[in-house]
Amino acid sequence: MSDVTKPAAALAHPILTSGLDRRRFLAGAAGLATLGAGFTPSAPAIAQAAPLKVGFMLPYSGTFAKLGKFIDDGFRLYVEQQGGKLGGREVAFFQVDDESKPEAATDNMNRLVGREKVDVVVGTVHSGVAMAMVKVARDSNTMLIIPNAGVNEATGPLCAPHIFRSSFSNWQVCYPMGKVMHDAGHRKVVTITWRYAAGQQMVAAFKEGFSAAGGSVIEELALPFPEVEFQALITQIATLKPDAVFAFFAGGGAVKFVKDYAAAGLNKTIPLYGSGFLTDGTIPAQGEAANGIKTTLHYADNLDNAANKAFLSSFKAKTGQDGDIYAVQGFDGAALLNLGLTAVKGDMGARPAMIEAMRSAKFDSPRGPMSFNRANNPVQDVYLREVRNGRNEMIAIAQKSVDDPARGCKAQS
Ligand code: BEZ
Repeated sequence: MSDVTKPAAALAHPILTSGLDRRRFLAGAAGLATLGAGFTPSAPAIAQAAPLKVGFMLPYSGTFAKLGKFIDDGFRLYVEQQGGKLGGREVAFFQVDDESKPEAATDNMNRLVGREKVDVVVGTVHSGVAMAMVKVARDSNTMLIIPNAGVNEATGPLCAPHIFRSSFSNWQVCYPMGKVMHDAGHRKVVTITWRYAAGQQMVAAFKEGFSAAGGSVIEELALPFPEVEFQALITQIATLKPDAVFAFFAGGGAVKFVKDYAAAGLNKTIPLYGSGFLTDGTIPAQGEAANGIKTTLHYADNLDNAANKAFLSSFKAKTGQDGDIYAVQGFDGAALLNLGLTAVKGDMGARPAMIEAMRSAKFDSPRGPMSFNRANNPVQDVYLREVRNGRNEMIAIAQKSVDDPARGCKAQS
């Protein structure tokens, strides 16, 4: 078992891993101490010579384990492509397995911020865990890059200049699906999800778009996270006979839901739609059951741009696996940090300038063009995809340059 797949207890002492080897780090520190008379490095020079401490707080176990691993792999891939550096500085990684447990999130975050004194935290996947992380990041003024969790508040009422997302908001990826499903002729829809922030906010955003287009949600079904006993709810869907179903599940839960839906024969009679997490990174395990599912997301496997082609081939070469949205978000999180740090020559002390460079960044991401709104949430295209040939194929742009409304975010300095 590799370190990253051990349970949280085993990762209680986060480990210094690749990107900087411990021997070189110690030698570098000793070298600075013995430079001798006549050389007095300034504080920023010392800070810039030290490795950048990046703390990953991600799920390395549980239903979102693969998502966390792919974010980690994507981030490291970008760092490797920069010769093991970000903004000219070597990188030291620290990892905590958050297990997608909101109740442990504050302690886990404090471990990285208080004990390891990381320069930046990268995390996480689960919206409930991210809420606690955002609060600690605000209280401790720690730089935070969220490489997945869509919780609207992070770039809404709890927005802060030093909190960025390289991912999406829950509103952003689901609102466009309302019009898509109405245009497809569906009028009465049942929703199904886990009962926690991400599921509730994604369903609310879909409902907002669907109602605006003239459709109605006739039943909202939910079960506690991360339960996967779907049978009773699938039976209820069969009884309700809606025109279609909209679902949010991800990771291992998404695999089980899609297979159970098909095993009940509903994929032949009631079309299944969802946010793209239902089928991203999960198709190999879902097999035939995933065919024909339509989803909206800010990524698709077949995006025909140079950045995506290069990313997919280098991710495959590094990991032996096909990249997905989680890997892209990790990769882009590192790219964003690199851009900010490069602007200040690696000096995290020059944070206002670093933040300004990040906020005004415009990238060619594997997902397509990406920039940031005033709340530090990406502005990006949301694609309509369909599972065909074992891939999430883009069939249209559901909505161009979608900008989360950042409701409740006070103007940022
Ligand atoms: C969330 O909790 O925000 C989330 C988890 C998995 C995939 C997408 C969103």
